[in-house]
Order: sequence, then C-alpha cells, then structure tokens
Amino acid sequence: MFLDRLAFLYISCYHNHITNEKYLTLLAAGLILYEAFISETFFEIVVSRRKTLKLTQTALSEKVNINRSILSRLEAQDYSPSVDQLLSLSAVLDFKPTDVIVDNHADLVAVERKRIAIADTGYVGLSLAILLSKHNDVTVVDITETKVKKINVWESPIQDEYIEKYMTEHEERNLSLQATTDAASAYASAEFIIIATPTNYDPKTNFFDCSAVETVLELVKEATADSKVKPTIVIKSIIPVGYTVHIKEKMGMDNIIFGPEFLRESKALYDNLYPSQIIVGADEQNQESAEEFAAGSYQDICAGAVHGDRRNLWQQ
Ligand SMILES: NC(=O)c1ccc[n+]([C@@H]2O[C@H](COP(=O)([O-])OP(=O)(O)OC[C@H]3O[C@@H](n4cnc5c(N)ncnc54)[C@H](O)[C@@H]3O)[C@@H](O)[C@H]2O)c1
Repeated sequence: MFLDRLAFLYISCYHNHITNEKYLTLLAAGLILYEAFISETFFEIVVSRRKTLKLTQTALSEKVNINRSILSRLEAQDYSPSVDQLLSLSAVLDFKPTDVIVDNHADLVAVERKRIAIADTGYVGLSLAILLSKHNDVTVVDITETKVKKINVWESPIQDEYIEKYMTEHEERNLSLQATTDAASAYASAEFIIIATPTNYDPKTNFFDCSAVETVLELVKEATADSKVKPTIVIKSIIPVGYTVHIKEKMGMDNIIFGPEFLRESKALYDNLYPSQIIVGADEQNQESAEEFAAGSYQDICAGAVHGDRRNLWQQ
C-alpha cells in the first residue's frame, strides 16, 4: 500500500459552480467545512440521457472526450467523474451539474481557530502558511534570517504570484502570520506543527535524506517535553513509504501524521487554493486530529467531502 498501515482520509475539492450560495457564504465566514458528493442519480441520468439521444458509448465518448472504457465504468457506477468530465457530460447530455451534487448538511464541521507553527518558508511551507493564516494564528519558522525578516514586513522571499498578492493584501485579507527563527517558542505554543523542510532522494545510493525533518522533530520534542497536550505534527515534506511509522518509533512520538503536497513551484498558493486532491494519512490514534487538520486547513477553499464510502468529485 502507498502508505503502509496508514488509514487515509481523502478529501476532494471542487469549486463555485457546484456549491450553493448559502454554504459558500458560510464557508466564506470560515465556519464550516461541508460535505458534498455526487448522487446516485448522476449515473442513471448519464445512461438514460445517452439512450434518449440515441448515442452509443463510443459516440458519447467522442463528444465528451472521455475514454470509452472510462465511460463504461462510469455507467456501471465504478468510476466517479472529475469536475471537467462532469461539466462536459452535463453540456452534451443536457442536465444541470448542480442537480447531481448532494450537499450533506448533516455533516457540518465547526472548526476552531488554531495556533499553527510551520517549519520553513519554502514553497510548501509559505503557501500553507498564507492559506492557513486567515482562520488560524500562524508562525513560520526558518533558519534563514533574511527570509524571516522579509515575511515580517509582508514581502515574499519566493517568487509566486498568489503568495505575493496575498501578502500585499494581508490587511484586507486579515491574515495572522508572523515569522521567526526562534523555533523553540513557536513549537512550544503550537497546537499543530507542519513540517515542510527539504528532503532529498539520491537514486545512486538509494538514500532518502530526511535529516532536516528529523532536526525539526527533535526540536519539537524538546520544546514540548513539559506540555500536557502534545501538538499534532503534520509532515508535508516528501518522505519514503513507511517513514512515519519508522520515525514515530525512533523518536518515541505518537503524534505524527502525514499529508503529501501536490503543488507546483511558483503556483504554490494557487495549487493550495484549488487543490486536485487533499490526502491526510493517520493511524487510528491520530485520526481525529487528522480530520480536524484537514477540515481546519482547507475551510476557506473546500466545498469538499470528507471521505466515507462516498463517491467524491475530483478535479483534474
Ligand atoms: N516545491 C514543490 O513543488 C514541492 C511539492 C511537493 C512536495 N515538496 C516537498 O516539500 C519539502 C519542501 O520543499 P520546498 O520546495 O518547499 O522547499 P524550499 O527549498 O523551497 O524551501 C526550503 C526551506 O527550508 C528552510 N529550512 C531548512 N532546514 C530547516 C529547518 N531545520 N528549520 C526550518 N527551516 C529550514 C530553508 O531555509 C528554506 O527556506 C521537500 O520535501 C519537497 O520535496 C515540494
């Protein structure tokens, strides 16, 4: 398995055209994450509309630009469409995409403001910091003093259109973000700590260098040694399979979960605002924190779905 012995919490996100106004308003207020997923009727509509229009699967496949075998799986309810696929099916088969989206009002999740520390101000760390700083109090930690100084005067140390824009507009966006080199204080007072320090794989020696992640974990362990409630640590750096289990044992720390990042450099914040997918992996012990992190992290962007046995929309 991709993340051995880790349970997945999978959240798919999609955008404005398939959310309704009321929930967008609540989302904008940052109060909730709500569930939304595609209904059973979608699959029935596709089959019945295709037959009414006397289209074979091959003919429909050409019109909507979806591979015929995928279409066949979709009609057999064995495949959930991406947002683009849903939109193109709805255009050709003439149904409203909003009619096949189910909002699960029962599963609204209230998310409290959190104190979050983020280890590093690179593409991953800073884009997450900006994203999270609207509804949480965020402190970014870096070993490079020049970067810290820049962030504290709202200048981006990296080139990224959205990060630069959001930092310039920090007042109207109400961002609560500060930077520091004082890792110990930042980690000691945080409820969630995100680690996005650099890791490196050397294919020649088959060695995955995670030493910068481990340096942060050691600092966190030291800084929170006397804390009654330990923070949840979320590793965002790229790490090898099995690493979370291994490092928890090695460090004697239970409170570590993993959330892979899928962003592109220079489009880091954009990709975090419009994610293709959000994955958080945790064992049973940390599942609640993982859900809280996922819900809280993405409350501004997600008209998404916390995984059950549900068909989730996903965006290509
Ligand atoms: N950049 C991407 O597109 C991308 C995408 C997915 C995953 N990742 C992964 O995320 C991780 C970070 O990548 P990145 O591109 O954001 O890095 P980056 O090179 O942009 O930034 C790294 C930052 O870490 C700081 N740093 C190093 N050691 C530190 C420590 N001990 N404490 C605090 N700060 C420290 C450096 O000063 C630098 O600011 C890597 O594992 C990378 O593989 C990156």
